[in-house]
Amino acid sequence: MRQPIIEARGLTKFYGKNRGIIDLDFDVSEGEVFGYLGPNGAGKTTTIRTLLDLIRPTDGEAKVFGKDVRLDGEEIRADIGYLPGELALFGDMTGEEIFKYLGNVRGGLNWNYVEELADRLEADLSKTVADLSSGNKQKLGLIQAFMNKPRLLILDEPTNGLDPLMQQEFFQLIEEARANGQTVFASSHILPVVERICDRVAIIRKGELVTVEEIDDLKEGMLRSIEIQFADRPPEEKFKELPGVEEVNFEDSRLRCKVVGRLDDLIKEAANYEVVNVISHEPNLEEIFLKYYEGEGEGVEANA
Ligand SMILES: Nc1ncnc2c1ncn2[C@@H]1O[C@H](COP(=O)(O)OP(=O)(O)O)[C@@H](O)[C@H]1O
Ligand SMILES: [Mg+2]
Repeated sequence: MRQPIIEARGLTKFYGKNRGIIDLDFDVSEGEVFGYLGPNGAGKTTTIRTLLDLIRPTDGEAKVFGKDVRLDGEEIRADIGYLPGELALFGDMTGEEIFKYLGNVRGGLNWNYVEELADRLEADLSKTVADLSSGNKQKLGLIQAFMNKPRLLILDEPTNGLDPLMQQEFFQLIEEARANGQTVFASSHILPVVERICDRVAIIRKGELVTVEEIDDLKEGMLRSIEIQFADRPPEEKFKELPGVEEVNFEDSRLRCKVVGRLDDLIKEAANYEVVNVISHEPNLEEIFLKYYEGEGEGVEANA
């Protein structure tokens, strides 16, 4: 088995009487790209800040690189690239000044790589941070996290404020980190982001882990709404008998249905006819939660 890079055991944080996170257990192995998915307020930032020893847990413990974060926090953080959820950069300095300063403090910074990252993310290193939009600040945060090619990247909502083109560039950076053998822990409240970059995902809701599983297994059981616009209406029965296809409904030549898991059977059947358009509605987080809490009924409400 690969070495665990992050180990959380019974990790719990209360803010006074309010829960932050409750009794979290999970491992992240070396080289994994691990997603940490949950709606706002679920406890993602609390978890991350605990892993970095920026706040102390009420109970339980966390290890990073096999070391207790409370004892060796400083040493551990030296090998982590951290993108905070809310960036607190020095407002009156430019990106260039900040990175040169950080490079001098730490040593060993490859300035060509900083410039490459700035170029790819279209970040302006010559403006003072106070003059940047939130999306452009986010780019500086990403550069700062990636620039030392750290052993572990901890990214809190990394795609926040990025336009679609820059998101693609960010996905590319993650692929490069993966190829380098770096480990990534990335939080998000957006399922498609996690789906796109991660091997495995933990889902957190109201401070508690709902599940930790491979993205492929998570997708296996997901129910998607599909719409197919045909040139002419095909025979309805053909679609009703397909495995995993439910709630088949035609409106003129437009098919609407729900599909569990893979789309292959549906697409191959549809391909027998002239297809004008296909629209796939991905399940949102709430729909995924429904899958996990199905049958528990009141248990969920009691938790609300
Ligand atoms: N400094 C704080 N003081 C009190 N409550 C907090 C504090 N930080 C977070 N919380 C609470 O902890 C819960 C988890 O918050 P957070 O970890 O920020 O969630 P996420 O990052 O998933 O949006 C929320 O209910 C939030 O209100
Ligand atoms: Mg957060």
